[in-house]
Amino acid sequence: MARKLYVIGNWKMYKTSREASAYIEALAPLVEGESACVYLAVPFTSIASASACAKETNIVIGAQNMNDAREGAFTGEIAGLMLKEAGAGFVLLGHSERRHIFGESNELIHKKILRAVRDDIQPVVCIGETALQRKSDQTQKVIEEQLVSALEAVPKEALDSLMIAYEPVWAIGTGKVPTLHQIQEIHHFCRQCIAQILGARKASKIPILYGGSVKPENAADIVALDDVDGLLAGGASLNVEAFSAIIRNASKEKTPKKVRKTTIKRVKK
Ligand code: 13P
Repeated sequence: MARKLYVIGNWKMYKTSREASAYIEALAPLVEGESACVYLAVPFTSIASASACAKETNIVIGAQNMNDAREGAFTGEIAGLMLKEAGAGFVLLGHSERRHIFGESNELIHKKILRAVRDDIQPVVCIGETALQRKSDQTQKVIEEQLVSALEAVPKEALDSLMIAYEPVWAIGTGKVPTLHQIQEIHHFCRQCIAQILGARKASKIPILYGGSVKPENAADIVALDDVDGLLAGGASLNVEAFSAIIRNASKEKTPKKVRKTTIKRVKK
């Protein structure tokens, strides 16, 4: 059984709900029939209208964040149940902008994952090292800590839908992309870590996406890597032509890979 291929767009704090509807109407015919699963993480205010627009299409609408509580006196926060009712099928959790601008910890992200699972929303958990961490040879340590904290004690049934997105912080919005060798190496390392936490069988099934300066020009080469199951695009997903080109270029069958028992080499700086 081949792992599916996913292409996710993260709009961040861009596009009103009117702009979102126009975008989805333009995107839908361009990506109809492509083999990749197409996901769009839109702002909260666009979830309801975007899901209505995407209803008869192969586009899944999701959110970019949620609170870890079911409900409560948390002014300005959004609960998973609210997202679900508005039409969100998935939620990005632990994006580096949430971690670094809004101070979200590994512990909070873990709680959000548990909540998303209880509220029946597919969690897409973002991980990645900063430039400083990479420079000081901390990449593997940081990634491992983020994965252990995210995945330990997550109920087994949740793991059928959970996805991981590896996004090196220094590659987000900068135009800098790790080499293909570095991407494969760190994705393989992620899969090894997941295997240690959850076992090799689960690890071979969990999709691991790459994010950070994804463009139509690099999409095909990145998804061709053994341990890459898709892409998470930020800036390029704001433009219908660019995002549909990423989806087209990435859409290809991928065969499942067993978790290899080889020792992982140090990630190059
Ligand atoms: P860019 O594609 O703009 O680098 O953003 C990546 C990202 O943060 C997606 O979540």
